[in-house]
Amino acid sequence: MSEIEPGVLTVRGGTAVTIRAARRTDLGAVVDLLLDDPLGRVRESAIDLRPYEQAFDMLAVDPNQHAFVVTDGRGNGAETVVATFQLAFLTGLSRRGTRRAQIESVRVAAEWRDRGLGTEMVRWAVDLSRRNGCGMVQLTTDNSRHAAHRFYERLGFTSSHTGYRLVLGSSSSSETVPSSGTSSVDHGVSPERREESDQ
Ligand SMILES: CC(C)(COP(=O)(O)OP(=O)(O)OC[C@H]1O[C@@H](n2cnc3c(N)ncnc32)[C@H](O)[C@@H]1OP(=O)(O)O)[C@@H](O)C(=O)NCCC(=O)NCCS
Repeated sequence: MSEIEPGVLTVRGGTAVTIRAARRTDLGAVVDLLLDDPLGRVRESAIDLRPYEQAFDMLAVDPNQHAFVVTDGRGNGAETVVATFQLAFLTGLSRRGTRRAQIESVRVAAEWRDRGLGTEMVRWAVDLSRRNGCGMVQLTTDNSRHAAHRFYERLGFTSSHTGYRLVLGSSSSSETVPSSGTSSVDHGVSPERREESDQ
C-alpha cells in the first residue's frame, strides 16, 4: 500500500465526507461493515480480528494493494467509518500490457446508502485507477446482488464476462464450491454456497 492522498467526497444534501487509506485501527469498523450484509454475515467474524490484521499487514507492504475507508469526519479524530473498499492494481501481458484495477469488498453503511456515497466512492476509485496507469477497472459481484448490478451498470460497468472460482478448502482441494460468477443472472445458488463469494 503506497501513500495515497485523502480526498473529499460530497453526498446528497451537500454533506462532505473524507476518503483515505484504511489504518490498522480502522479494522474493527471495516469488519463491522463487511458483516452488515446478508452474505457477509455468514462468512465474516468480528470475534477475532487477527486474520484481518494479518491480511492488512500484507496489504501495507504491497504497493499495488490498497484498502480505503470513508469517514464522516474531516480527519480530526472524531470520525466514524461509513464505507470501505479495496483496490488492487494488476499487471498483465495481454491487451498489450494493459494494467487493470480490481475493486473488492465495496460496502456502504446501511444508514448511508442511497445518498450517492457509493457512486462517488467508485468514481473516485476509477479516477485513481486511471491516474495509476490502468486501462480497465474490473470487479465481480454476487449474482444475488441485484441492486449492486444496477449500481455498477449505472456507473458504466458492463456485465461482459462470466466469473468462475475454485474455492480451495483447507482439508481437500476436491471440496470445491462453484462460484456464482459475475453475470447478473441468478442461477439459484443456495445461501450456503453464496458465502464463498466475497463481493
Ligand atoms: C451497493 C452499494 C455499495 C451502493 O452504495 P450506495 O451509497 O447506496 O450507492 P448510491 O447511493 O450511489 O446509489 C444507490 C441508489 O441510490 C440512488 N441515489 C443515489 N444518489 C441519489 C440522489 N442524490 N437522489 C436520489 N437517489 C439517489 C441511486 O439511483 C441508486 O438507486 P437504485 O438502487 O434504484 O439503482 C451499497 O448499497 C452497499 O454497500 N450494499 C451492500 C453491499 C453490496 O452489495 N456491495 C456491493 C458488492 S459488489
